[in-house]
Amino acid sequence: MQDIIRRLDEKRAAAKLGGGQRRIDTQHAKGKLTARERVELLLDEGSFEEWDLFVEHRCTDFGMDEAERVPGDGVVTGYGTLNGRLVFVFSQDFTVFGGSLSETHAEKICKIMDQAMKVGAPVIGLNDSGGARIQEGVASLGGYADVFQKNVLASGVIPQISLIMGPCAGGAVYSPAMTDFIFMVKDSSYMFVTGPDVVKTVTHETVTAEELGGATTHSTKSGVADLALENDVEALLMTRRLMNFIPANNKEKPPVWPTKDPAGRREPSLDTLVPSDPIKPYDIKELVHKIADEGDFFEIQPEYAQNIVIGFIRLEGSTVGVVANQPLVLAGCLDIDSSKKGGRFVRFCDAFNIPILTLVDVPGFMPGTSQEYRGIIKQGAKLLYAYAEATVPKVTLITRKAYGGAYDVMASKHLRGDVNFAWPSAEIAVMGSKGAVEIIFRKDLGDKDLIAEHTAEYQEKFANPFIAGARGFIDDVIMPHATRKRICRSFAMLRDKKLENPWRKHGNIPL
Ligand code: HXC
Repeated sequence: MQDIIRRLDEKRAAAKLGGGQRRIDTQHAKGKLTARERVELLLDEGSFEEWDLFVEHRCTDFGMDEAERVPGDGVVTGYGTLNGRLVFVFSQDFTVFGGSLSETHAEKICKIMDQAMKVGAPVIGLNDSGGARIQEGVASLGGYADVFQKNVLASGVIPQISLIMGPCAGGAVYSPAMTDFIFMVKDSSYMFVTGPDVVKTVTHETVTAEELGGATTHSTKSGVADLALENDVEALLMTRRLMNFIPANNKEKPPVWPTKDPAGRREPSLDTLVPSDPIKPYDIKELVHKIADEGDFFEIQPEYAQNIVIGFIRLEGSTVGVVANQPLVLAGCLDIDSSKKGGRFVRFCDAFNIPILTLVDVPGFMPGTSQEYRGIIKQGAKLLYAYAEATVPKVTLITRKAYGGAYDVMASKHLRGDVNFAWPSAEIAVMGSKGAVEIIFRKDLGDKDLIAEHTAEYQEKFANPFIAGARGFIDDVIMPHATRKRICRSFAMLRDKKLENPWRKHGNIPL
């Protein structure tokens, strides 16, 4: 017995040391925490229950039988609590064979994913890995595929969050890609399908790893990452914050946090938010902050496709997903990137019972060959499809423009919007007055006065919320200062909303 306890202590000590002090020092020198330090910071203090510490790889090729067998095989797995709520975690240990994924390493990840599915709890993956364990060959590839399959089956059932805190390359990128959110750490993480050397050989491009797949690249250019954080600590703390907004699984509602912010709080400054000049921009985020409990807005993808703003707020303590056109960027028009960004977020909210607030100021879809050649027809349809499919409570507020197809798309009444409000400044029309007059009065284009008269007439007739209101497409025209109160009441009314789509295996969203 004493002998077993001594061996247990030795194994635990060896596991804690991972690939050894020298490699831990190298990890720290790169500004990175170790796999265990990360888990400690992510979870509530002392809550981590580790599994499979005794797992070792089974490889005997390429000297692996003689190589040091580190208990745990390069990944720390288990469960714990995050602000008191159960979560499962895996954390790849770069100090052990570069965090590379062996057959057994994959089995450990699969085991916690299976358990998380059984109990309905999120999985948070901390990725820091040199990819497939090269010495294991196809056994490692099989391990990746096993993880992929579980990612897909868990999608929409439990939240899956990926933190990229070191290398993540080759096929290994596809596991995080199938999770709900990806956070990357600046300067110490990268994700790419093929690295700079292969890129140079195949396309003759010279590019650094950071330029090709660093956190800044993926949070500004590709949209692969949802947030780029300064360091490991910030990434872990932001993950804790995100988790506070979302439910543990698709059968639960999001957690409710107590708030002292009154639902009826008036915001007189909102009465002057929309400039009287219809082409002057304003910052829609000001509205989001002013509606939210305590002004708290957790923005997702703040640096990517900035013409649409997405993220989480709370109203009367309950989570609400916000989708808002941003007049400050491209006049808030919808293009390919913003449609994909918005559509994916709407689908996340719908999958996890998170009501959606849509703030509309949209002049239409972005015109031009670059958009058409890249398929804005199908890409824009993603957002439309997502809204039309969503059965969670949907409250929409048109602050100014709601033109053309974009009016329909942005959670209009016609797409089962539950409550559709407009501010008095709303303009709901097929297009702006100038464009409309140039088409329907083309024959008068030579007569400036007549065109001005037609424009004023069109403006007078359509640049208001009443025509849509007369048809019941708008439920009410509300005063901007009363927005929080009216929206809170609407979501309160919708708390027990029940709506189901017809049974089907799955729809065929335009991918
Ligand atoms: C086994 C690996 C490894 C791997 C790194 N190591 N990657 N061991 N399999 N894939 C080991 C190294 O031998 C070294 O061991 C330790 O990890 C640290 O690696 P270094 O190279 O010293 O670190 P660094 O300079 O920081 O470079 C990190 C790296 C580099 C960029 C990740 O190690 C690298 O290029 N590795 C190979 C990446 C790769 O090609 N992976 C396979 C991709 S294909 P010691 O003992 O010296 O500490 C793939 C397919 C997945 O992943 C398919 C899924 C469908």
